[in-house]
Amino acid sequence: MTSDQLEHIQHTKNFVKQTLESAEGGHDWFHILRVYNNSLLISKNESVNDYVVALGALLHDIADSKFYDGDETIGPQKAREFLFKINVDSTVIEHVVKIIENVSFKGGNEAQSFSSKELDVIQDADRLDALGAIGIARTFNYGGYKNRKLYDPSIPPDLKMTKEAYKASTAPTINHFYEKLLLLKDRMHTKTGKQIAQNRHLYMEGFLKQFYAEWNGKK
Ligand code: ADP
Ligand code: NI
Repeated sequence: MTSDQLEHIQHTKNFVKQTLESAEGGHDWFHILRVYNNSLLISKNESVNDYVVALGALLHDIADSKFYDGDETIGPQKAREFLFKINVDSTVIEHVVKIIENVSFKGGNEAQSFSSKELDVIQDADRLDALGAIGIARTFNYGGYKNRKLYDPSIPPDLKMTKEAYKASTAPTINHFYEKLLLLKDRMHTKTGKQIAQNRHLYMEGFLKQFYAEWNGKK
């Protein structure tokens, strides 16, 4: 990478850290840092543009629509303005914006309108952070943030939600495991991503087994 590119990445880190100062615990700077590090790790086995991967990973949740009344235009717009201001090349800006627009799961029943190897890497890295011990912690933190029930046996998971229904759902947090988290291991793009996802998936299955055992009064 050129020294200009390294400088852009450093500026972007500072910008994201500052912007997400008071973000929800599962979508804060540390989530971004984990996704950034996992993206770099996955990239080692892929032929991608590392500069685009770095900027995309750092900016992917700069204004998550979940925290902006469902508005999906704010994140891409904020990223575009920032990258323009620090003089990033317009082709790179457009690629990063496409990545931000397409990275989210949104129920998993929507067709994705754009694809690139760089998006694949970042999407895998973001999905890894939704799995395993961190994934469980983030999910219950988000549920608490939204005042959701932990679990309600009378409200079954819904796997056929449209993007709108997924976004509007107020279901118990346990349902999110079936509606998203347990589906992710089969939707990974990269070899590295698939391998790590497999382990984290098994860990979550163990967690759920223990959860139900305790729920049902087992010792
Ligand atoms: P999306 O699911 O829209 O793609 P994210 O990928 O940003 O959104 O979700 C990141 C994390 O936020 C999830 O992996 C999960 O931990 C938490 N989260 C999102 N939606 C829910 C939900 N309905 N219930 C519990 N946690 C959620
Ligand atoms: Ni994310």
